Amino acid sequence: MAKKKKLNKIKESIGLDIGTHSIKLVHLKHVHDGFKLVNFAIRSTIPEGLEHNQSDLMNDRYAPVLTGMLRSLKINPKKVKHLVTSVGGDNTSIKQIKTIFLPDDELESALFFEAKKHLPISGSEMVLDYQVLNVEEKTNNMNILLASTTRALLKEHTQILGSGGLQPNVVDLEPLAVANSFALTTLDEDGLYVLLNVGAYKTNMVVYSNKSKFFTRDISWGGYHYSKDLAKIHKCSFEEAEKMKLELGLAAQKTNASKESLLALDITEKTAIEQIALEVKRSLRFYVKEAGDSDFRKILLVGGTAKLKGLPEYFSEQLNIPTEIFNPMTEIDGADRFSDALDPQLALALGLAMRPE
Ligand SMILES: Nc1ncnc2c1ncn2[C@@H]1O[C@H](COP(=O)(O)OP(=O)(O)OP(=O)(O)O)[C@@H](O)[C@H]1O
Ligand SMILES: [Mg+2]
Repeated sequence: MAKKKKLNKIKESIGLDIGTHSIKLVHLKHVHDGFKLVNFAIRSTIPEGLEHNQSDLMNDRYAPVLTGMLRSLKINPKKVKHLVTSVGGDNTSIKQIKTIFLPDDELESALFFEAKKHLPISGSEMVLDYQVLNVEEKTNNMNILLASTTRALLKEHTQILGSGGLQPNVVDLEPLAVANSFALTTLDEDGLYVLLNVGAYKTNMVVYSNKSKFFTRDISWGGYHYSKDLAKIHKCSFEEAEKMKLELGLAAQKTNASKESLLALDITEKTAIEQIALEVKRSLRFYVKEAGDSDFRKILLVGGTAKLKGLPEYFSEQLNIPTEIFNPMTEIDGADRFSDALDPQLALALGLAMRPE
């Protein structure tokens, strides 16, 4: 049973994950000791299976999908009281930092200065949020989780929600929602957990634990790039490559052609999945140096591309850390009433819907 961190008066919440490829929605009822699944949906925003170009990725594609989705779930957008959505990607940043103890007013300007290092934009464009994680007893240093994004991104996000008749309520950052989907349902042991939300165009990587440093970064590869790779390897259309991907998963990249290209050791010939594994490996090496902790227990895969056949085995082998598909929905009451609610693609939306105030 998912643990509720705080008692509050929210009766119901909706977590909405607007991805590049699809929109995921999770509707929860808040019961006294946890959550109950009311309903959920996953809808593609681009023609299924077809190669898309830039014009297919315009923001106006979201409105009809969002509207249709809300209608079929019988959700009246005007009546939604607690909506939690997320933004992610290039114009967002989350860093855990350490500063000397500062009073609130000084802290804010120090954090503003720090955030500018991670998002190189002008001060008036920056939107900042932070959470003091703890104050170290011995040194009096503060550990702070610093989240920043831009006004422009939030405005764009508000417009997308508005096109579906929705008003933004709480806007979270993607990696925090991914972390919450784990922290609020499953985490009960020490050690480091690597969460990978493998989407269509990117992969959110999060290192999470009870005690060690929070780390996150985006890796700019996902399932879309893997389909493109398959089309190239097999000299077929994107459509055929997508079919192959869904049917064969990772085995689809193991052809004679790909062996040849791997022999050439050309970095551009590595498939997206191989690139993701490489980037995760690099980031973990960096993490060990930075945080001085290497107690990695598991890699947990969520997102649509987590369903790629053979992916857990491949990551286990490449990174030497046991890897599995993570399904936080198994911890939610009432999910068993639906035949297809146990889907790792819903993890981020669930993390949003469970967010403590
Ligand atoms: N069974 C499956 N096997 C392999 N890939 C799958 C499967 N089901 C969905 N996918 C892929 O998952 C991706 C969509 O996942 P997801 O919804 O997590 O992405 P997104 O959030 O829309 O994108 P992003 O996070 O990159 O903006 C697509 O590339 C799709 O082809
Ligand atoms: Mg996504």
